[in-house]
Amino acid sequence: MDNSKIKRYTVTAALPYTNGPVHIGHLAGVYLPADTYVRYLRSNKRDVRFICGSDENGVPITLKAKKEGVTPQVIVDKYHKIIGDSFKEFGVSFDIYHRTSSLMHHQTASDFFENLYNKGVFTEEITEQYYDEKAQTFLADRYITGTCPKCGNENAYGDQCENCGSTLNATDLINPKSTLSGEPPVRKETKNWFLPLDKYEEQLRTYIEGHKEWRPNVYGQCQSWLNAGLQPRAMTRDLDWGVKVPVKDAEGKVLYVWFDAPIGYISATKELFEYARLDVWNPKAEEYYINQNTLQKGDWEDYWKDEDTKLVHFIGKDNIVFHCIIFPAMLMAHGGYTLADNVPANEFLNLEGQKISTSKNWAVWLNEYLEEFKDKQDVLRYVLTATAPETKDNDFTWKDFQARNNNELVAILGNFVNRVVVLTHKYFNGKVPMLMEIKPEDQEVIDELAAYPAKISASIENYRFREALSEVMNVARLGNKYLADTEPWKVIKTDEDRVRTILNISLQIVASIEVLIEPFLPFTADRLMKMLNYGGHLWEDAGKMHLLHRGHQLGEPQLLFEKIEDETVQAQIDKLNRSKAENSLANTVAAPAKENIQFEDFSAMDIRVATIVAAEKVEKTKKLLKLTLDTGLDQRTVVSGIAEYFKPEEIIGQQVSVLVNLAPREIKGILSQGMILMSENSDGTLTFVAPTQNHSNGSVIR
Ligand code: 2FM
Ligand code: ZN
Repeated sequence: MDNSKIKRYTVTAALPYTNGPVHIGHLAGVYLPADTYVRYLRSNKRDVRFICGSDENGVPITLKAKKEGVTPQVIVDKYHKIIGDSFKEFGVSFDIYHRTSSLMHHQTASDFFENLYNKGVFTEEITEQYYDEKAQTFLADRYITGTCPKCGNENAYGDQCENCGSTLNATDLINPKSTLSGEPPVRKETKNWFLPLDKYEEQLRTYIEGHKEWRPNVYGQCQSWLNAGLQPRAMTRDLDWGVKVPVKDAEGKVLYVWFDAPIGYISATKELFEYARLDVWNPKAEEYYINQNTLQKGDWEDYWKDEDTKLVHFIGKDNIVFHCIIFPAMLMAHGGYTLADNVPANEFLNLEGQKISTSKNWAVWLNEYLEEFKDKQDVLRYVLTATAPETKDNDFTWKDFQARNNNELVAILGNFVNRVVVLTHKYFNGKVPMLMEIKPEDQEVIDELAAYPAKISASIENYRFREALSEVMNVARLGNKYLADTEPWKVIKTDEDRVRTILNISLQIVASIEVLIEPFLPFTADRLMKMLNYGGHLWEDAGKMHLLHRGHQLGEPQLLFEKIEDETVQAQIDKLNRSKAENSLANTVAAPAKENIQFEDFSAMDIRVATIVAAEKVEKTKKLLKLTLDTGLDQRTVVSGIAEYFKPEEIIGQQVSVLVNLAPREIKGILSQGMILMSENSDGTLTFVAPTQNHSNGSVIR
């Protein structure tokens, strides 16, 4: 969009499901880049509204409620507050953090649906869905479990098998069961309303191809959806939690959560302006976290319907299709709305090398972080932006968190600011000294400083927040180098005026850092303002030499950051390891015990320690390896079905336990003399059963 035409911005951040707190993956993927962008726009005096809220409808909520034995309302009330409070404490500066359970949202979403319905946009289709006769309800995919047709996992869900990762249809499951009653569901016909996405394909293609500047991951995903051909998609569901379908014959049906959630951005904007219009404080201010500092009157329609409004959706990559295909198609069908100018979706953040998982409690939860790391919001903000998964998945580790704090925030930024402020107090009673003679080496630094704001702006405006933050850190590096080169602590003995110039320039650098870092680390910017004893500046001032006037009294020096010790991060690593252990215990679905046997039955088995001395694949089979074992008694051949788990060359030398008196058997033309013992994990992976220390071959296992 042509920058000169932009009158205002509507920036949205994906509405988090209200079935748990938010974690670092959400922050790095969505909320931090969005907040940085908005803070930057505000610092540039642009008219911007920053919109978010809780996604309180849909199956994720009802499932959580069922698990906890409470109503969905209890769940959304609980997590709306936890999430809203933690965003606020973390400095995510939404103008409003709304709720899709609000009246405003129900009305807005319902009107939107009716508008499309009245225009004849939807097609009505009757399909067969699973129905629980005992509970008298249709079953969403997640309410059905059964055996995965791909891997045999008996606890696969109707939409996905978490064991093998396959995407499934509920009707694919073998022996499906309703999780509500435990009974097998029946198929029953039901009517739903479909949005014929195929009819909008050309319009969508034109829209998307007009945005070749989008991130390659976003643009590419859209292209592949379009190229695969769009299909009509049901916009209603048979469920009793959500926005009721506002047409006749729709008893027991609600809007599909992905129909109503993006409308949540619109209803939140309406709520914000309605609140501003009324001009009196009311309890909604608290419930919806309305930002009193940025509150202004206005017309919500300007922010959604004017073509000079730039709309930007910050989301994670799993939301691309909904924001780039389905929501735009809904807006096109409705008419009168502007479409997003950009959808800077991030990839995923992993944690200590593993996918973040809510159900496995493999996450760093924001609310817990805020409790355990008091006043360290900016450390996490820094680390998550510095490692943001902008172009590929990335990994958060506690060691890296510590290293970036200690080696970058403390050693580069904190150190520079501290030295400058402390020296000014020491030599000039904390008053900004006068700029005296400017030498060429000073001018170089002044020029370099002046170039940074435009560079950082360009990165932010192109949604490259990592790059932008690293440039801000380069300003601190520039300052450190300047101090190291000019050595004011030595020069003070001989030339006080020279030190005045050096410290004046250094202080202007600190003041510029305050402006440039505010979008990323607002708490640090606040501390800097206190230390510099001024009210802060706008982006246009950054890089200039007039931010602090001669004679201005600075505040007291304080440490911006403190070192994080090994014990602190170790405690976090231990905490994760505990959840790993608990999780693996909880996930062990032990096979049922077999019938008792007599001692004689067991002692009849001759099990020995042996070493694999040779191994090769059995030709024309996938699973079989031919092993040569040194059993201490002899060298013999055993055929074993482990080829999918082990490469022959990797297991030579491995000790194993082998049942040596099993009657020999021919397998694929090879005489197999015995069987090696394996342990099969609950996830289906195999490992050898062997003595924990090397034992001589032929040792008896009993
Ligand atoms: O993926 C999610 O967490 C969804 N709740 C995001 C919704 S974004 C929007 F459309 F509201
Ligand atoms: Zn499976």
